[in-house]
Amino acid sequence: MSTNETLLARRQAAVARGVSLAHPVFLERAENALLWDVDGRRYIDFAGGIAVLNTGHRHPRVIAAVQAQIGLLTHACFQVTGYEPYVALCERLNRLAPGPGPNKTLLMTTGAEAIENAVKIARAATGRSAVISFAGGFHGRTIMALALTGKVDPYKTGFGPYPAEVYHVPFPNTLHGVSVDHAFDALALLFKCDVAPERVAAIVFEPVQGEGGFYIAPKEFVLRLRELCGRHGIVLVADEIQSGAGRTGRMFAMEHYGVAADITTLAKSLAGGFPLSAVVGRAEIMDACGTGGLGGTYAGNPVACAAALAVLEVFDEERLFERAERIGEKIGGVLGTLAARHPDIAEVRRLGAMIAFELCESGDPNRPAAELTRRLTARARELGLILLSCGVYGNVVRILVPITAEDAIIDEGLAILVQAAGELLTDASATVPKLRPAR
Ligand SMILES: Cc1ncc(COP(=O)(O)O)c(C=O)c1O
Repeated sequence: MSTNETLLARRQAAVARGVSLAHPVFLERAENALLWDVDGRRYIDFAGGIAVLNTGHRHPRVIAAVQAQIGLLTHACFQVTGYEPYVALCERLNRLAPGPGPNKTLLMTTGAEAIENAVKIARAATGRSAVISFAGGFHGRTIMALALTGKVDPYKTGFGPYPAEVYHVPFPNTLHGVSVDHAFDALALLFKCDVAPERVAAIVFEPVQGEGGFYIAPKEFVLRLRELCGRHGIVLVADEIQSGAGRTGRMFAMEHYGVAADITTLAKSLAGGFPLSAVVGRAEIMDACGTGGLGGTYAGNPVACAAALAVLEVFDEERLFERAERIGEKIGGVLGTLAARHPDIAEVRRLGAMIAFELCESGDPNRPAAELTRRLTARARELGLILLSCGVYGNVVRILVPITAEDAIIDEGLAILVQAAGELLTDASATVPKLRPAR
């Protein structure tokens, strides 16, 4: 019989080394926010398959929709013959996307593909080639998505060269001393020294940086980006692959900002565990590509579309956007208390239920505590909680618990987190008080 140990050995022998594994656990089954591994151990899932399970594992509505669709049609290729779930999902997303519309949508399979296509569409619409993205941003693992990604190791190491005319500027970050002015000064310098704004097709940004460390874009930054793009005819692309689909308490994180991007990319939780991504944008921009310029054999698979339509119904029926905010308040409250107790927690950040805390030695932002973060997530796993880290320095713990998780399960997960933190982090009450300087 397979065990975690035997499967780990088989994995090491059979799977390419480049695919990492955060936890040496092999799952047998899952339900909502609970996981069971092949050894029969139960875990609480605060990782959600990296932001894919806002509606939980195997939501009954999603499973029923998928089963019904499997009984009818599993593949056709939307460029060969059409099917309604693709069209119906595009109609829904066009109505939901922020901004006055009218919108149009392209469906793909992965987040990286959505990003690739957003860039293709922006280039076709503007006739320009340059693209700007941000330090610390993550946009996927295909070559253009990697070029846009603002973190070298491990994502980009050894895979270049990358496409030309991709530029990075700093992303505002209060903890690490990057102000909104700093980011815009860097953009002004870029326009002066490297590329004229009239050559820029798109600026691609995450309203909340995901892999980069859950840094929330300040409102002023987003408003100024919107204004700058409008002034120079640059397509503003909001990458909502991690922040979208209800995680922040709204369908799109951009709804918190009161302005709309020209194009939005979605994936991850859009289809409740089935591979699907979307590029939603203003119709005149989305229609810039010639017929045949967009698509993919599996893109907008009917089963995944059926799952996504069910996910959108679940958001409404279970009022999950409101629930995301309530969950966020609860988890944020516990993390706030934890931060007061443990000076290693330099900051707690949250937008809705997109929540993280950053670990730095003695709270000093210049001393990111990656090893402590690794030990904390490992200890939590031993105690039955699956956590994920992120951050340019690997020192951020992010919480992506299903929004459908029961309160009792969230409480149980938080209790494990508090215990693991108590065992591993420095306690404020145990630190030696500073001596008063002698007069
Ligand atoms: C913001 C963002 N964009 C793009 C991607 C790439 O998505 P995928 O892994 O589905 O290609 C990710 C994945 O983590 C992401 O978080």
